[in-house]
Amino acid sequence: MSEKASTNQQWGGRFSEPTDAFVARFTASVDFDQRMYRQDIQGSIAHATMLAKVGVLTDDERDQIIQGLTEIRDEIEQGQFEWSVALEDVHMNIEARLTQKIGITGKKLHTGRSRNDQVATDIRLYLRDEVDHISAELTRLQQGLLDLAEREADTIMPGFTHLQTAQPVTFGHHLMAWFEMLVRDYERLQDCRKRINILPLGAAALAGTTYPIDRHLTAELLGFDRPTENSLDSVSDRDFAIEFSAAASLIMMHLSRMSEELVLWTSAQFNFINLPDRFCTGSSIMPQKKNPDVPELVRGKSGRVFGHLFSLLTLMKSQPLAYNKDNQEDKEPIFDVVDTLQGSLRAFADMIPALQPRKEVMREAALRGFSTATDLADYLVRKGIPFRDSHEIVGKSVGYGVQTGKDLGEMTLEELQQFSDVITEDVFEVLTLEGSVRARNHIGGTAPDQVRAAVQRGRAALAQLAAQR
Ligand code: ARG
Repeated sequence: MSEKASTNQQWGGRFSEPTDAFVARFTASVDFDQRMYRQDIQGSIAHATMLAKVGVLTDDERDQIIQGLTEIRDEIEQGQFEWSVALEDVHMNIEARLTQKIGITGKKLHTGRSRNDQVATDIRLYLRDEVDHISAELTRLQQGLLDLAEREADTIMPGFTHLQTAQPVTFGHHLMAWFEMLVRDYERLQDCRKRINILPLGAAALAGTTYPIDRHLTAELLGFDRPTENSLDSVSDRDFAIEFSAAASLIMMHLSRMSEELVLWTSAQFNFINLPDRFCTGSSIMPQKKNPDVPELVRGKSGRVFGHLFSLLTLMKSQPLAYNKDNQEDKEPIFDVVDTLQGSLRAFADMIPALQPRKEVMREAALRGFSTATDLADYLVRKGIPFRDSHEIVGKSVGYGVQTGKDLGEMTLEELQQFSDVITEDVFEVLTLEGSVRARNHIGGTAPDQVRAAVQRGRAALAQLAAQR
């Protein structure tokens, strides 16, 4: 990167001394915004095409510009492009190179636009692409959850409230809870995409332009749903980036909850899951350690995404209309949200299909902790005892179990009858784990058949989304 201090050739006309070398570096964004080079070129090609259509450029000028920009894209992709801090940002670097390549015609590209609407367009194009990549990765993770949930529809584990054993559930049901979180996340991304996919180009610096531009055409060329309504709002609005970061934060929050459970489950104390070695690392001092680094890191990374959401909110707070240089500070948070979310989703989508549940351990854990106590209470209600009284009876039975070290299903009929004489031999059906989960047989319940039905609905929903794309 060249760093020669000079008056910027793109706007230096009214300046009488060169920019201070530090100020040039301090105000430049090219180090990070060069990431949007493809979108910048895409936007410029559409702009030039529109300008030719309305007669501001000749067809020949348009063709030279498009040819030059296409070559510049290749130069960048082949690592031959020299980015210059003196040229501030991705926009002016590319434009300067265009002029260097095609001469005076290159200087006409910026007719009827400003970097203010240009950068707003670039970020929207960039985020639209990334929302699509992220959505695809999210779908891959959902697919993995559906497959695993189907395989584990009959696998019994303890369900928890307050992290205390509550009632038996199936592992498939637990995984489908994760799936549902991601269904909402996907919808949020798609909803946010609608507000990303609107064209600000044409707002120019802030007030619009005197050229007879056709913003509908530019919108169509770039695949935007429509042009924005107000030029002042167009160049200053970053709501879409905040919404995206909020949607990303919710995804990270969900991944962090899943991570926490995986960390707990892979511990020696729970021992519910084996996470294959390729997703873990060891300790340099404790030879026995196998650490669940991937879920831990994802849990940790959620914090930085939340941080970026707050950076962006704070960045926009109190900004007067229209564009302010503050807005240049939107890029690094946006890019880091994208990278962190992509990486975390990828790690999860790779890891989920590889989870190895230890079914016997899970079942054993559900057997401990009186997880069928509610089933006994419901049984007593069916035998005519009011729920509050049955709650009391079961509470006493559990107290007895704690004293004698027996779970409810392990007590004899006589032992159970000490607490209520309506209890008969058929009680053992409801005290088994399988009976308990099978009985919760309604939409949303943990019964294996319901889990399988939920998986089928999930598959149908994903297939429908795939057909829409
Ligand atoms: N690099 C700037 C940004 O990221 C581009 C727009 C600059 N506009 C201006 N009037 N200085 O926001």
